[in-house]
Amino acid sequence: MIHTEVVVSTEDPISFKGDLLVCFVASGRKDSLDCDKRILQVVYEIQQLGDFSAKENECILLYPSQHPKLLNSSAKRVLVIGLGEGKKKRSEAELAELFRLAGGTISSYCEKYKVSDMMISAGPDLGFNQAQLAESLIEGVLLGDYRFSRFKKKDEKEKPYVGIEKILVSAVGWKVKSTALRRAVKKGAYTAVSANEARNMANEPGNHWTATHFAEYAKTMADELNLKCKTLNKAEMSKLGMGGILAVNQGSSEPPKLVVLEHNPKNSKKTILLIGKGLTFDSGGVSLKPAAGMQDMKYDMCGGAAVLGAMRAIAADKPRIRVVAIVPATDNMAGSAALKPGDIIKHYNGLTSEIVNTDAEGRLILADALAYGIEKYNPDCVVDVATLTGAVIIGLGHHYTGLLSNDDKLAGRLLEAGDRAGEPVWRLPLGKEYSKQIESKVADIKNAGGRPGGTSTAAAYLEHFVGETPWAHLDIAGTAWDFTEKTYIPKGPSGIMVRTLVQLVRDWR
Ligand code: BES
Ligand code: MN
Ligand code: ZN
Repeated sequence: MIHTEVVVSTEDPISFKGDLLVCFVASGRKDSLDCDKRILQVVYEIQQLGDFSAKENECILLYPSQHPKLLNSSAKRVLVIGLGEGKKKRSEAELAELFRLAGGTISSYCEKYKVSDMMISAGPDLGFNQAQLAESLIEGVLLGDYRFSRFKKKDEKEKPYVGIEKILVSAVGWKVKSTALRRAVKKGAYTAVSANEARNMANEPGNHWTATHFAEYAKTMADELNLKCKTLNKAEMSKLGMGGILAVNQGSSEPPKLVVLEHNPKNSKKTILLIGKGLTFDSGGVSLKPAAGMQDMKYDMCGGAAVLGAMRAIAADKPRIRVVAIVPATDNMAGSAALKPGDIIKHYNGLTSEIVNTDAEGRLILADALAYGIEKYNPDCVVDVATLTGAVIIGLGHHYTGLLSNDDKLAGRLLEAGDRAGEPVWRLPLGKEYSKQIESKVADIKNAGGRPGGTSTAAAYLEHFVGETPWAHLDIAGTAWDFTEKTYIPKGPSGIMVRTLVQLVRDWR
């Protein structure tokens, strides 16, 4: 699955002969620089020229063949990356982000110069666990080294760049045992690959990524990673009374699926339930969306992709708690049998809902999945991830994922996990005022509450299906693609929340 080989090496960086050697420099008091002594002289001269001051992510590219005396390296190129002030007080999350961003910068140089093998040398001591720095760095490199070109014609003459083939992490100079370094680097790599897998699912267009693809993908993953997998088909959903998923699927010729993946270690004492919206294309249904930009609605399955991506890393982490992921999957089409405004449906938990807008479909499929998952797995908490509302983009732009929760402790855990993962999360309110907006005259609730507070009224709908279970809802409509520009976030789907969910499980006590 990892196309890049990542190896911890005992080789001295200076003797590395490959395409690119990466070194780090932090700035110290006055003019002093903190880096490998053997590149110090060259970097110092460039600093004296005024061309470099080791600011965060500031770079110089050197060609050792042009400085044979000064730079005794055998690499084709040396990339020097600034890390800012060496003595600056930074939180663990800030340092992790600094190194992920540096990793993303490395991958963009690799793309530009078609680098296939490189070596990364140790960074200066920033007063932090160096294994964690190496982990973040590799995570950033592999997140940045992502491309999706499956549907592009292969050029016979000019071979396209396929990405970094081999990364050597030199163990020389890291203030940490090489076994710890090896473990850290591996963890950074599979975490990034898990997010890249979520991006792959998202990049597949609606005609190549249906509910059935979700089910097949989960099955393959379960076989490969020793997880348990179960999927419910349309007939089983009918028997169980999952009126929400069935209603959304009514206008489609593609059958719906409810996909369950489970990591279930012996003697586990806690269960975390993850649920992801797997809407493989959202046309809006009879309440049809405008044509402009509708193609982006193939990304409406990014919540489902995020929970499956997270399960991949969780399967590798092997935590001692049970983690269950559920993806309700279907598209939302306007075929002749489609759901209509005014229709009343009945959810898995027995609640009836008046459909006032068929484009508010995400909450319909999540409602069944939440009620079913909570009843079946009796979790200690449930977190759902969904591209649920355009309103969250109006509120938070493309910079924060919206968080709504009935439990302050769980909300706090997610705020922290998101911060540590470089995927910022901002809490928005729930409350009876929003619940009132979705009261119906003819059914228990209605599926849309008007424009004001659209993200909160959508969450208020979901709240009806979680009972007393600690629950958090992550609205990723603004961050699943077009996420804040960062070196390690390529254009297109971001894979957002994969790493936050993984972090949440890693930090669970
Ligand atoms: N999938 C959309 C939300 C969305 C919009 C995600 C833009 C990403 C970008 C969702 O199913 C939807 O259509 N929501 C409606 C709800 C409304 C009809 C109450 C919305 O936000 O307009
Ligand atoms: Mn919709
Ligand atoms: Zn949708």
